[in-house]
Amino acid sequence: MFIAFEGIDGSGKSTQIKLFKDYLKSKSIDAFVTAEPGGTEASKMLDFIIRNFDIPTEARLLLFISDRIIHIKEIEEKLNRGEWVLTDRYSYSTLAYQGYGECMDIKMIRELLDRFCPLMPAVTFLLNISPKCAINRAGMHDLIERKGYEFYRQVSEGYLQLTKNDKRIVVIDASGSINDVHKKIIEKWENEIERTKSRISV
Ligand code: TMP
Repeated sequence: MFIAFEGIDGSGKSTQIKLFKDYLKSKSIDAFVTAEPGGTEASKMLDFIIRNFDIPTEARLLLFISDRIIHIKEIEEKLNRGEWVLTDRYSYSTLAYQGYGECMDIKMIRELLDRFCPLMPAVTFLLNISPKCAINRAGMHDLIERKGYEFYRQVSEGYLQLTKNDKRIVVIDASGSINDVHKKIIEKWENEIERTKSRISV
């Protein structure tokens, strides 16, 4: 089973992934946790370029996609062995950040993703939080100020737009406490997703 966590910076993805991994562990499921960008040894170099150089948006887009192509190879190896994989960010990040945030051509991004990153998570949890709320979280103020509030508003709205045509995205209100958000994720998982698990591709 392949599961992704998405959301703007400060939405609490990494904390919630850890808690979800622990929850799965309590059900005797050992999940592998990974992240984008830089989830593999090889793509750490790409991650370094993305984070440290002011490069054209087109180049950054292609680096995120290259990073994902390398990542997919590792994810598929695990899925083929029947393992569970949880990723902190995947293709919806590219659509939300480069498409809606940086105003790149969404159709072109979708074509690249369809062509080079066809693997899709069975379920994506979108941790939905307003930039206003995220900015108040530890360590987020400077980052959100740097990229600009308007940018994050567009990314956040972009994520919600993406959920409209895709039943595999589960929107979670992530404005509450860590524990509240975790409870909401588990509630969704147990009530809706697990019941229909046999009907969704793994
Ligand atoms: P993070 O490791 O803290 O989540 O930071 C990764 C940053 O990269 C975050 O601001 C989102 C951004 N990003 C994109 O813009 N496009 C992408 O496709 C991915 C995976 C991340």
